[in-house]
This record gives sequence, C-alpha cells and structure tokens, in this order.
Amino acid sequence: MHAGLQKEIENYEKRTPRSKDAHKRAEARLPLGVASNYRAYDPYPIFVRDGKGGRIHDIDGNEYLDFNLCFGAIMAGHCHPAVVKAVQQKLGTGTMFGMPHDLEWELAEEICKRFPVEMVRFSNSGTECTMHAVRLARAATGRDKIIKMEGGYHGLHDSVLVSLKPKESEVGGTDFPNSVPGGQGVPKATVANTLIAQFNDFDGVKRLFDKYPNEIAAIIVEPIMMNVGILMPEAGYHKALLELAHANGALLIFDEVKTGAKLAYGGACQFFDIKPDIVCLAKSIGGGFSLAAFASTKKVMGQISDHKVFHGGTYNTNPVAMAAGLATFREVLTPAAYEHVTSLNKKLLDGYKSQLDKTGLKAYVVGAGCNGSLMFCEKPIKNYRDWLKIDSDLWRHYWFAMVNRGVMAQPYWWDEQWTISVAHTEADIDQHLAAFAEVAPQLAAAQKEPREISTAAH
Ligand SMILES: Cc1ncc(COP(=O)(O)O)c(C=O)c1O
Repeated sequence: MHAGLQKEIENYEKRTPRSKDAHKRAEARLPLGVASNYRAYDPYPIFVRDGKGGRIHDIDGNEYLDFNLCFGAIMAGHCHPAVVKAVQQKLGTGTMFGMPHDLEWELAEEICKRFPVEMVRFSNSGTECTMHAVRLARAATGRDKIIKMEGGYHGLHDSVLVSLKPKESEVGGTDFPNSVPGGQGVPKATVANTLIAQFNDFDGVKRLFDKYPNEIAAIIVEPIMMNVGILMPEAGYHKALLELAHANGALLIFDEVKTGAKLAYGGACQFFDIKPDIVCLAKSIGGGFSLAAFASTKKVMGQISDHKVFHGGTYNTNPVAMAAGLATFREVLTPAAYEHVTSLNKKLLDGYKSQLDKTGLKAYVVGAGCNGSLMFCEKPIKNYRDWLKIDSDLWRHYWFAMVNRGVMAQPYWWDEQWTISVAHTEADIDQHLAAFAEVAPQLAAAQKEPREISTAAH
C-alpha cells in the first residue's frame, strides 16, 4: 500500500473509532459484520446514524455530503418532504393488507406514461424484477438460455449470478467468454444456461445466437453498465441488440434498476429512444423505500393473466412503498428535477476535468444523468476486461481522502459511481470540488511514485 493511501486510512481510523467498534461487535453475529456483502470493506465500514437531504452523519458524529445515496437508490435525497408526508399518512391507516388497492393502478399508470410498456407488476427489489423478467422471457419463448454481459450485475438470483466479477484468469477467450459462477451454490445447469458476451461487442452476441439457434430466450443488459463505474454503450448498440434478438425469436430485457429513475424522465428507453421487450425498475423509484417493478407489453405480461407464469409476493404493493413511489414519481422525479441534477452533474464533471488537467492526474471522468465516475485508467473503457485494469489502490486513496474531507464521493468500491440527488445544491457541488482540489494533487503525486499497482483484477 502506498504511503498516501496509508495516511488517509490512518486518518479514517482516527475519525471513526465508533464505527470500528460497532463493526467488531457486528462481526460476531453477521457474516462480515454487514447485511449485504457490498457494504463490507477494509479496514471496516462507516456505520451510519442518520441522513437528511444530501447529507448523512456517522455514529461518530462526522457529517458527509452523500453522493453514495444508498448505491444510487435515493435520488430523492434522504427524507424528501413529499415522500415523508405520503408515508406518514399510510403509517396511520395500515401498512400491509395483501389486498388490491387503488395506488397499484395509479403507479402502474405513471410507469406506462414514462416508459414504452403496457402492463406492470410490482415487487420489492431489483433482484426480484430481473428474476421475473427472465422467467417471462423463458415462458414467452419456450427456451432456457439467456445472454448476459460479462461484468454485468442484475441482482442475486441464480440465472444472473454468473460472470459478475470474474477474475482475469477465469474470463476465457473473447469470442466465447466463460460463464463463471458468482460464488458457490449456483447450480451448474443454471450457469450453463447463462451465456456470456462482452458489453459493446455486438458480434459476440451474434456468435452466441449462431451457436445456439432457437435456444436463447433473452438478452439481459444494463443500458449503461453501472457496475464497472460508468460504461457507455456505443452508438446504436441497443437498437442492434433489439433487432438481433427479434430476428432470433428472443426478447431484450432492459435492466433499468439503476438508470430507470435516474437517467431521464423516461429512463434509458427515452434516453436511447428504444422500446425493449421488458423493463426492470427498482432503487430510486421508491424514494427511499423497497419498491420495484417489471413491465412489458400486454402480450408478455398476459402470460401472468393467463396463469402461465406465476408471480406473487406478500410485501408487493404494500401501501407504504406504493405511497412513497407515487410521491416520488409525481412530486420528486419531475422534469425540473432532471434539469437540476443534470446541470449539477455538469458542474461536477467539469470541475473534476479541470483538476485532472491542472494536476496531470491520469484518469478520466464520465457522467450520465445524475451519475458520474472518476475512472482510474487513461483510456475510456469499452468492456469489463478494460475495467479490470483500473488502479484500485489509487481509487481507494481517492475514496478515503474524500471521506476524510467530509465528502462521500460515491459508494465504496471502484465499480460504483456517484449520484446527485434532487436535494443537492450548487454549494454542495462547490464543497465536493473543493475537497477534490485538495485530493487530486496527492493522487497525481502518488501515481508518479514507483509502486506496485493493484488493479481491479486482484
Ligand atoms: C443494474 C442492477 N440490477 C439489479 C440490481 C439488484 O437490485 P437489488 O439490490 O434491489 O436486488 C442492482 C443492484 O445494485 C443493479 O445495479
């Protein structure tokens, strides 16, 4: 570990002793001391106390500008007044019934207004949505195999828990990348049904359709890959995928769990002007509550009406989450909100760029909607394998140095990105940039030092 990173971690430990103790205690009862593996990192994660708007406090009382925002799941910011009001009303009138109610139709209407879909079902997490989407596609085609992008993340069910973050030694050739289980316990037969292509490699997908004629039910893809920082698709990529899928009797599933609420009013469908077959939504649509939806045409969703495909769930459309979702769509994620976050993001991206120019730090910044990412490699990445070359030690230096200056620049992990919430202000962006102005020269100096480079591949 280089000296600059070591110093920042020492400062971090000085500032967060209560988090250290809390984590130690939690480790005895929760594997890794956390409730989701993504929340665990060395030396220990920050334990949060509360949040409001664009800021949070940890249990040591430190304040952070929050651009993590629960892994991008709360573009509304913490405790948005419209969401809080809607939820409070429900808390006094019943939180779970397991019975239909009017908010279901209302929110389904909102989704059908924004996205090119005709029918919607709700669930509670992105994982559930992509699981149901894959099942619908399999039922619609009578086929078992799906195509997924190497390094892409679609949640935790077996069919997509394949080639999430395969090691460099595991990925295989570029023509037919290996299907690598994302941990033990995923059945071999399921892994074999998940075929892998590289993002932005249209020919790779075509090769799979040629190799497995009439066997592939769907391509599942994140419109912008946001589990390798930010990876933009090449022009026309999605339209070409859609045509290819249809030409081969398969469906295109857009996993808009991250992009759906955040990229634009109508998500990536609007941004890329495309009508995929199935759209999956989660994270920021709930304004801070567990809410997700999958949506498609009457024909595809009709498989549920016809009792061919089963969908259910005790917590589905509980009035609290639905009220939060409706308030989020109607009062938070307005056209004006997208203008606000996009303009703040431009300011942030421009500020980062000017620091890169000034300090000579070899990295680049990339943004989309309210998201952005500082990528620690010289050339823009095109796929997961490029991302493996990211200088992860320098990224860690960046993250801890920013946190020590009161800015949680993004979630921990160099495959993530920052989110700007509707609650953030110009002054918040100035504060973020002021911290980066202190950190960037340190990073540039560390980059020039002779040191052993740790990459994402390790
Ligand atoms: C693109 C994408 N799809 C699916 C998921 C899974 O969502 P959840 O964590 O709500 O199950 C995530 C979570 O980060 C995601 O980023």
